[in-house]
Amino acid sequence: MTATSADPVVSGVTERLTPAELLAEQRRTLATPRRRANVAARALFAMMDLVYGSERSLAKFRVLEVIARVPYQAWEHVAYVAVTHRHSEPRFARRIFERVAESRAQQDNEQWHLLILEELLAEEGRRQPFVRYRLLPQVIAFAYYQLSWLLYVVKPGWSYRLNADFEDHAEHEYMLFVSENPQLEERPYEGLFAEEYGRYDTLADLFRQIGYDERVHKLESLDAMVRPRFE
Ligand SMILES: [Fe+2]
Ligand SMILES: [Fe+2]
Repeated sequence: MTATSADPVVSGVTERLTPAELLAEQRRTLATPRRRANVAARALFAMMDLVYGSERSLAKFRVLEVIARVPYQAWEHVAYVAVTHRHSEPRFARRIFERVAESRAQQDNEQWHLLILEELLAEEGRRQPFVRYRLLPQVIAFAYYQLSWLLYVVKPGWSYRLNADFEDHAEHEYMLFVSENPQLEERPYEGLFAEEYGRYDTLADLFRQIGYDERVHKLESLDAMVRPRFE
């Protein structure tokens, strides 16, 4: 299924892969060493392990997705402000706006991940402590937004680098989660967001697709790292 950005409801959907392609992409991730994360990313992962446990779980992934959206929000905001200052140069402003559009699509993609996790967790029906699973993720996301914003204003490459580390981590975690949970191969996904995000024969494929999305985000950030600001 290929969604297009023409329909605003399906904004932020990346290329949909077939089950065979998803399996190949999972193998590719697992055969690729993790990036050497920088100190800020390592501190974040260590803190998440401490608070949410080192085991991969839906509840922990939901926290990850709350945080995952905010660098894109920070970049989008900076780019819109840049358009305010530079609209007298329409060609340049247009290039800035292309960055806005890219950030928005990435942010929407993360939002589908977040909403799908929320839906799957609700189905499990297990209560989660409010402070640890609702309040704290928002506090972390707020701090991470400020950090992403500041790095982006000072030197965009630093912010992209941090995000690439984060996305690399997410990609590996999702693909490992599928390997560790063979029962995911039995359950189809036809949930609330199937219309927008896609229907999958199995939850395993759904998570492989999410892991693949994280790889796409990582590669986009690595590509942006070597492009100067708004060029
Ligand atoms: Fe995500
Ligand atoms: Fe991502």
